[in-house]
Amino acid sequence: MAFGVSTISAQEPSTTIKRVPVQAASTMDGHEMFTHYCAVCHGNDAKGTGPAAGALKKTPADLTQIARRAGGKFPEVHVQRIIQGDDVVGAHGSRDMPIWGELFKSLRGKEDSQLRVTALMRYIDSIQAQ
Ligand code: HEC
Repeated sequence: MAFGVSTISAQEPSTTIKRVPVQAASTMDGHEMFTHYCAVCHGNDAKGTGPAAGALKKTPADLTQIARRAGGKFPEVHVQRIIQGDDVVGAHGSRDMPIWGELFKSLRGKEDSQLRVTALMRYIDSIQAQ
């Protein structure tokens, strides 16, 4: 059974790598995905104070203030493009935020990625400060 040992150790890395995206992809709920993918920087309350926020060059945006900053109307397309990675935030083009569109696409393809980005956008819309 000596070859059995080498088979296990050879397979272990790919098994471990595969398991993470499958678990991460198991929900399409905007709130749950936010907790999973976004809260580390933006905070559970989306106000920009997640545990990783201090390590970033730029402070993560307070996502409850987007509509207010945009003059009262939540800019759906703009927010979707930012999450996806089509638009950079701010005039100077620094991008501390991961390109979620590409990450989600790498999990389950383009259509799935668009559904996720839309669900996240709708969740952010639902938590706008009045
Ligand atoms: C690694 C940290 C990090 C993670 C994780 C992260 N963000 Fe961000 N996000 C930022 C930073 C920093 C900014 C401020 C702009 C910049 O990058 O320069 C930002 C900006 C934004 C903006 C723009 C807000 C505005 O005022 O226009 C949106 C929308 C957003 N993030 C949504 C999300 C969503 C949704 C997720 C999860 C899928 C997420 N972010 C995950 C760091 C992060």
